[in-house]
Amino acid sequence: MERKHLLSIEELSRGEIEEILETSRGFIEISKRPIKKVPVLRGKTVVNLFFEPSTRTRSSFEIAAKRLSADVMNFSSSVSSVRKGETLKDTVLNLEAMKTDLIIIRHPASGAAKFLTTFCSSSVVNAGDGTHEHPTQALLDGMTVLENKGRLDGMKIVIVGDILHSRVARSDIFLFSKMGSKVVLSGPPPLIPPYFSELPVEVDYNLDRALEGADVVIMLRLQLERMHGGFFPTVREYREKYQLTPERLNRTKPDAIVMHPGPINRGIELAAEVADSGRSVILEQVEKGVAVRMAVLSLLLGGEK
Ligand code: CP
Repeated sequence: MERKHLLSIEELSRGEIEEILETSRGFIEISKRPIKKVPVLRGKTVVNLFFEPSTRTRSSFEIAAKRLSADVMNFSSSVSSVRKGETLKDTVLNLEAMKTDLIIIRHPASGAAKFLTTFCSSSVVNAGDGTHEHPTQALLDGMTVLENKGRLDGMKIVIVGDILHSRVARSDIFLFSKMGSKVVLSGPPPLIPPYFSELPVEVDYNLDRALEGADVVIMLRLQLERMHGGFFPTVREYREKYQLTPERLNRTKPDAIVMHPGPINRGIELAAEVADSGRSVILEQVEKGVAVRMAVLSLLLGGEK
């Protein structure tokens, strides 16, 4: 892969996605060793620059970089000089003055990662920018489907819930459609506005119908923190129409898998019995996240595969 930055799945070719997933496969084994470390990025400095909360993405980028022997600096905006009014650009320029090699950024503004590439000399990885994209989440979702189904083409992937505010949904749509699967979106109409039909998807507002014959169901959290209007009447009504229950799961193929990027709102979009069932691969997604992020870091920084 010749890229310096990873900003979106939209910009990647099918070949680049395949290369990242193939490289990730090689890194899965390292996390199972007694000594989980290889010298691929020895001497490199990676910054985790997070302006929004995160459990999975931030931790797994840190673990991935450390398993590759990079030095990692974790930046949290809540205890930084951002609180004193320092701008994003000044913050990044000051961190870069310490000779960083790669900056991983999560930011509430769509386009923040791309903005960094206009003045940064470090590589930039988008760890979620507003409602735009979350490319490494889609790559680990692809890796999880590949490991469970043995392929990424010819499947029916149903993405359910708050599509409007979901950067994961946008990245997943690009990844699974580029790899040759059918993507169906389901959720309340205000959370799937008409412009989503311009993407390579089908939309079915009736979840029971959308789930028929699905191979993979990706449930999304209601992002109440990004909602500034009445997108659905009540949480109770949302649950009745869009919660994935054991009964609804019976409409999918018998070997369909259930995914969720996390954090889960148990009992809202996902019934606890489903989240904890043998059909759920949610923790496997988290496990694959480390290998995928090791692959992304090593490919961008030119380390060995
Ligand atoms: N999937 C995901 O981005 O989770 P975090 O917000 O915990 O990083």
